[in-house]
Amino acid sequence: MKIAMIGAGFVSQAVARLAIAHGHEVMVSNSREPKTLFSLGYGLGCRTGTAEDAAVFGEVVLVAVPLSAIGDLPAAALAGKIVMDANNYYPQRDGQIPALDARETTTSQMLARELPDARIVKAFNAIEARDLVKDARPAGASDRRALPVAGDDAEAKRIVIALIEQLGYDAVDAGALEDSWRFERDKPAYCIPFDPEGLRKALAAAERDVEVPRERR
Ligand SMILES: NC(=O)c1ccc[n+]([C@@H]2O[C@H](COP(=O)([O-])OP(=O)(O)OC[C@H]3O[C@@H](n4cnc5c(N)ncnc54)[C@H](OP(=O)(O)O)[C@@H]3O)[C@@H](O)[C@H]2O)c1
Repeated sequence: MKIAMIGAGFVSQAVARLAIAHGHEVMVSNSREPKTLFSLGYGLGCRTGTAEDAAVFGEVVLVAVPLSAIGDLPAAALAGKIVMDANNYYPQRDGQIPALDARETTTSQMLARELPDARIVKAFNAIEARDLVKDARPAGASDRRALPVAGDDAEAKRIVIALIEQLGYDAVDAGALEDSWRFERDKPAYCIPFDPEGLRKALAAAERDVEVPRERR
């Protein structure tokens, strides 16, 4: 499959490594000229391009940028594309976003507003980038981790689930984009290793107004 990354940071590099190891064609991109990714592309063994190039190239496109940058994405080129949304909200980086602070929306619903014609699936946001390659395991491994996904497009979600399962994780369907708050930052399911049953329990235990920073779990 052709998998593109918008963003060339920690998350995109880790997902790119896994995808390349499983035989996918990969392109990474950032907000600057592709020449700024020359060494990265060489090191990973993948193509590089602009965000627009990545949107055109990918059958599945990972968006892994600061949440504050989602208004700058190539929305027209992403129309109809399956978009995996790895973004999280960190006010110290992204600024205060009142609709998120008031729990009126989710980060993925915000992305969906920016990309109204993309098929968005929340994925890869609830695992630390540094764990992504290290913790990947083949299907059936006793210590295989589960990762949550959410989305409104059933076929897109099915394709992303199959990809996650190929890349080394069990996938747990956490519902629609409006339900994806259950695995946003500081919810019980956020960035903690779980098997599928443990992840389902953590998702069910989430309370919309309650943040549980990891150091207090
Ligand atoms: N790090 C983690 O452990 C982790 C885990 C799960 C989820 N997340 C979330 O995933 C997202 C990415 O995290 P990260 O750690 O990978 O961030 P990062 O290392 O800071 O990388 C962000 C990337 O986005 C690019 N970028 C910024 N604005 C862009 C734009 N308008 N168009 C295209 N590319 C743009 C940056 O490149 P240029 O500035 O050069 O364009 C950079 O390559 C964040 O929302 C983060 O909260 C992070």
